[in-house]
Amino acid sequence: MAEVNIRNERIEMLKAFDAAESGVKGLIDSGLSKIPQIFVRPSDEVAQELTYKTAEIEVGVIDLTDIYNNPERRKRVIEEVRIAAETWGFFQVVNHGIPQTVLDDLIDGVKMFNEMEAEEKRKYYSRDPTRRVQLNTNYDLFNSKTANWRDTLIISSPDEIRSDELPSPFRERTIEYSKQVTLLGRIILELLWEGLGLEGEYLKSMECANGQQMACHYYPACPQPELTLGTTKHSDIGFITILLQNQINGLQVLYQDQWVDVRPIRGALVVNIGDLLQLVSNGKFKSSKHRVVVNSIGPRISVASFFSGPSSEVKRYGPIAELTSEENPPKYREIVLGEYRLKFLKTGLDDYLGLNYYNL
Ligand code: OGA
Ligand code: NI
Repeated sequence: MAEVNIRNERIEMLKAFDAAESGVKGLIDSGLSKIPQIFVRPSDEVAQELTYKTAEIEVGVIDLTDIYNNPERRKRVIEEVRIAAETWGFFQVVNHGIPQTVLDDLIDGVKMFNEMEAEEKRKYYSRDPTRRVQLNTNYDLFNSKTANWRDTLIISSPDEIRSDELPSPFRERTIEYSKQVTLLGRIILELLWEGLGLEGEYLKSMECANGQQMACHYYPACPQPELTLGTTKHSDIGFITILLQNQINGLQVLYQDQWVDVRPIRGALVVNIGDLLQLVSNGKFKSSKHRVVVNSIGPRISVASFFSGPSSEVKRYGPIAELTSEENPPKYREIVLGEYRLKFLKTGLDDYLGLNYYNL
């Protein structure tokens, strides 16, 4: 009975928080010094944190200079990309062709948007999946066990959006960045594909460079950072993610049972492999678990561009035949995109089991 009451109380708190439509930023602006209970992780989870070692190693940085003019360099870069994808599932890229001003302007735009009057922002606050631009605190707020200290503006197909659908502080900035990141995504997918020893034709037929979703995250400074998380441990569900982050630490990748900081490098972009690429590569490329911790300083800002395949509900993906053999049989069963995405959206991030649902 007590448990039911606690659960109902939590649901009421979540509803009240969501109905205010002012997000975590709104809590901070109200001047609170303790975080609300809905954000507090269970004490055993917090205690377990102490058993993790923090590693002194670092995610690799790959320089994309000259990969189109110098075939020798291109070969070397493909090797670096392949090794990073097989081991860490994470790497950073520099000299990727997107100008620093485009990156800085987008970060500034996300900051300006989140710091607008609550009334202005409220126009975008929504959980309606048919809206192409949605602001909310945690897409899984009502499904997860603990809420995350993060507000997110989600933009579907930013490469196709009309500028008046976007909040005014970052209309042009979003469109410019999205155009450039779409091209970069194609380039990186091409390198990954070549790293698998597959032809460019595959890339086209798989449609993994079609369709993009952008998540602009805002992680306010937190008065009790050790009690909560910015983003719960998870892997991304698409093919790849390209992430822009400001200069505040927070992103960590789980590598050999240790949390490793993905240190912000000015001008660099973080690339990580998602579950769909692990699935089609039959486990050769790794979709690593990662999370975001919060700080007493902030805001931390990041923009994730998810390359998650076409919008089609019925397209199927399974391990690529060329990458399997008698000695290396398929490790995963085929998925249907619509169901695959729905399962993710309906499950809290802390419960979602990723590719474990599809193991053979
Ligand atoms: C994500 C994610 C990391 C970050 O959006 O999937 O892992 O640094 N984001 O915000
Ligand atoms: Ni992620």
